[in-house]
Amino acid sequence: MPHPMIDQQDAWQALAAHARKMRTTHLGELFSNAPGRHAAFTRRAAGLTLDLSKQRWRDETLERLLALAREAEVPEAIRALLAGERVNRSEDRPALHTALRLPPEESLVVEGEDLVPAVHATLARMATMVERFHAGQWRGATGRAIRDVVNLGVGGSDLGPLMVTHALADYRPEGVHTIGVHFASTMDGSQLADYLSRLNPETTLFVLSSKSFTTIDTLSNARTARDWLMARLMGENREEGVDAELVMRQHFIGLSASPEKMHEWGIADEHQLAFWEWVGGRYSLWGAIGLPIALVVGMDHFRALLAGAHAMDRHFSEAPLSDNLPVLLALAGIWNVNFLDIRAHSILPYDGRLEYFAAYLEQLEMESNGKSVTHDGREVGYSTCPVLWGQLGPNAQHAFYQLLHQGTQSVECDFIAPKVRYDDVADPATRDHLMGQHRLTLANCFAQSRVLMLGDKAIKEDGPRPVYKHYRGNQPSSTLLLDRLTPATLGSLIALYEHKVFVQATIWDINPFDQWGVELGKQIAGETQRILEHQADIADMDDSTRGLIEAVWSAERG
Ligand code: F6P
Repeated sequence: MPHPMIDQQDAWQALAAHARKMRTTHLGELFSNAPGRHAAFTRRAAGLTLDLSKQRWRDETLERLLALAREAEVPEAIRALLAGERVNRSEDRPALHTALRLPPEESLVVEGEDLVPAVHATLARMATMVERFHAGQWRGATGRAIRDVVNLGVGGSDLGPLMVTHALADYRPEGVHTIGVHFASTMDGSQLADYLSRLNPETTLFVLSSKSFTTIDTLSNARTARDWLMARLMGENREEGVDAELVMRQHFIGLSASPEKMHEWGIADEHQLAFWEWVGGRYSLWGAIGLPIALVVGMDHFRALLAGAHAMDRHFSEAPLSDNLPVLLALAGIWNVNFLDIRAHSILPYDGRLEYFAAYLEQLEMESNGKSVTHDGREVGYSTCPVLWGQLGPNAQHAFYQLLHQGTQSVECDFIAPKVRYDDVADPATRDHLMGQHRLTLANCFAQSRVLMLGDKAIKEDGPRPVYKHYRGNQPSSTLLLDRLTPATLGSLIALYEHKVFVQATIWDINPFDQWGVELGKQIAGETQRILEHQADIADMDDSTRGLIEAVWSAERG
C-alpha cells in the first residue's frame, strides 16, 4: 500500500481549511492588526536578511506550514541531501553540490570515499590555470598571451557563470593581466559569430563547458570556433610551426564530467577540468564549471563565494525549521502556490549587477521542480513549481509592473537588494551621487512592495478614485536584503535558493535533480534536422511541421 500523498495528510488538510478562512483577509489588515509584524516574520543568516512579513499569512499559518514540513520529513531530507545519500532517485545518485563548497579541513565520506580531497584537488588545478592566465603566461599558438576567453556552454554550463561574473565584476583582482571573459550559448551561433567578428584568434581561447559533453548547442558552437581558429591560425602561420595540435592545446579548455569525450574531441588532457556525475548541471557553478568566474574575480574571491554558500549550507543544516531561511522561503512559496492559488512568481533584483539572476533562477527552479510525478511514480494532484520569471526591478517597473498592480493575476514577488553600495568609491563627489542613486533604487524597491501590499491605501487621498486608478494591493512578496553584494553574500544567496527548491521538492514529493522533460524535444529535433537536411523522409510528419519545413525549403530554393 503506497503512503498517502502529501495533500491527503493531516497537515495539508488543516492548511486547506485555514486557507479558506485566510483568503478573504487583505494584507493591509494583517499589518494593521499586528504591530511588530516585520520583526516577527524577519530572519537573518549568512549576510542576508529575509523579510517575509508581506506574505499573506499570520503566525498560525506559519505554525501549520512548519507542521507540513515536519510531516513531509523535511529535516530528514536535509540530512540525507547533505550526507550524500542517493536523493536523485531516477538517476540513482547523490546530489552533492554542497560538497563542492566544503572547506579543506572538513571531510565528507560518501559510500566509502572522502570527497573533500578530490574537490580541493580540482580547485588547486583551477587555481594553477587562473594564475597562468593572470600572469599573461597562457599563450596562444603563435606565442601571444591570451586576452579573451569565450565560454561555450548552455543551461547550467552558462547561466551560473554568466550571472556570477556579471554580479561580481567589481571584484576583479588588481595588477593582473586582464582577461575579457565572454559567453556564447545559443545554438544558432549568433553570439559566437559576433565574437568571431571582433576577437583576435591569436589571443582567444575557448572554454568548452558541458557536463555531458554531448549537448548539440555547445558542440556546434565549438566546431565553428575550432574551424575559425584553424583557418585563421594555420592558414597564415603554417611555416612558423603552428599545427592543429598546438592550436587545440593552446586555445581550448574542457570542463566536463566526461574526460573520455573531452579527449575524443581533442582537448589536451592537461587542459581538462573534470567533475563528477553527482554534480547537477544547474548546481555546478561551484566547481570546474566556475572557471570563467575565477578568471574574472580571481581565486580568492571564488573561494569567498564558496565560503558564503557553505555558510548557508551550515545554516540550512543547523537552524531550526522556524528560523531556517531556505525552509521559510520554500514554505511561503508552498502557501502561495498550493493554498492561495498564486502560480506566478516574479524575481525582481534592485541592483544592476544582478541582471542575470532571474534568468539563472528560471532554470534552477523550473528545471528542478517543473515536475508532476512523485518519487514513486504517481501523478501529483496538486500544483508544483509556479511560472517564474523576472528582470531588474527598476526596469520591470516600466515594463510589466502594470500587470502586478492592476492585472487579473496574483503574483508572488521576490525583491532583492543590497543595503549599502558605492560607499567605497574613491572620488567623494561621484560617491555621493552614486550613493544617492542607490538610495533612490531602494526607495523604489520598498515603495513597490508597499503598494503591492496595500494598494490604494498606501496613499492618503481625499475623495474616491476613478476605477481605472484603483490598486487592489494584496499581492504577496518577500524582501531579501544583502548586507552588501560581495562574493560571500552572493554565494549564500544562490545557496539559499538551491535549498529552497529542495525543500519545496521534498514537500511535493518530486525529484528536483533530474530533467527528463527536456529529452524528447532533443530527440525530435534530431529527427527534424535530418528531414530539413533532406536525409530523412518527410512523409511521417504532422501537417503543421511539414508545412513549416516546406516553407523553409521553398525559401532556400529562392
Ligand atoms: O537540456 C537540459 C540540460 O541538460 C541542463 O540540465 C544542463 O544544464 C544543460 O542542458 C547543459 O548540459 P551540459 O552541461 O551537459 O552541456
